[in-house]
Amino acid sequence: MSSKNLFDLSGRVAVVTGGNGGIGRGIALGLAQAGAAVAVVARNDDKNRRVVGELEARGVPALAVKTDLADRSQLPSVVQEVEKKLGPINILVNNAGIVVLGGVLELSAADWDRVLETNLNAGFLLSQLVARSMIQQGRGKIINIASELALFGSGLVPSYSASKGAVVQLTKSMAIELAKFNVQVNAIAPGFIDPDMVAPIKEMPLYEDVIKRTPAGRFGTPEECAGTAIYLASHASDFVTGATIYLDGGFAVQL
Ligand SMILES: NC(=O)c1ccc[n+]([C@@H]2O[C@H](COP(=O)([O-])OP(=O)(O)OC[C@H]3O[C@@H](n4cnc5c(N)ncnc54)[C@H](OP(=O)(O)O)[C@@H]3O)[C@@H](O)[C@H]2O)c1
Repeated sequence: MSSKNLFDLSGRVAVVTGGNGGIGRGIALGLAQAGAAVAVVARNDDKNRRVVGELEARGVPALAVKTDLADRSQLPSVVQEVEKKLGPINILVNNAGIVVLGGVLELSAADWDRVLETNLNAGFLLSQLVARSMIQQGRGKIINIASELALFGSGLVPSYSASKGAVVQLTKSMAIELAKFNVQVNAIAPGFIDPDMVAPIKEMPLYEDVIKRTPAGRFGTPEECAGTAIYLASHASDFVTGATIYLDGGFAVQL
């Protein structure tokens, strides 16, 4: 297979949760550039439709699916709608995520649940539904978006850190179980991405600290997340499963 064909996603159908902004948008545009039809699944329908317009401008079919992933009852209809309008789902990117500030001593149970439901449970339940369809097709790619904080604890966002650590472990278990069906499951752990998105921390000492600590000496961009996602969605990664790729300018490997 030529290297161009290895990364070609023509004829594939991808779902990107949280694809209407930030990293999810960067990944959705990348998958479309490689030829995939893309469904954008998130709550804000105006933002969903805006990104669908950008995807269609790249010449691929695209679909906006307004969904609150923290509401479990909405998940089956996401799969049904995408498969009815775009075709069987071959690629699932579990990217939607939230952060709630609050240390162990003050975080409410409701906030803990909200973070775990969005960042971990929704991805698990959606993967379960989509994996059944992928098994019938005899192939599939699931990409879970974790975080640097899967590796590190945090006094600011312990719920987020716990959810992302669990995403990495779940990725391994799903990879083991689904390998025999030719479904690969991998994770991407982004470091600090896009100074615009993290505008509030630009004013904090943390911002300079992160830059200093990152061997690459800068934040990443959502566009830079696309290449790793295309790789993990394509034939190029057919023998890669259960892996977590750190997309962080070297942050995780520097003491
Ligand atoms: N930016 C970073 O530096 C960084 C670093 C490491 C990991 N990450 C991870 O990367 C992923 C994307 O982060 P980002 O920085 O791009 O964040 P973002 O710009 O805030 O995007 C989050 C996305 O998730 C969607 N979302 C949130 N809750 C949802 C829900 N209940 N149902 C459906 N969609 C929901 C949002 O859309 P709606 O609001 O319209 O629903 C939005 O599209 C997250 O999993 C995050 O943890 C980010």
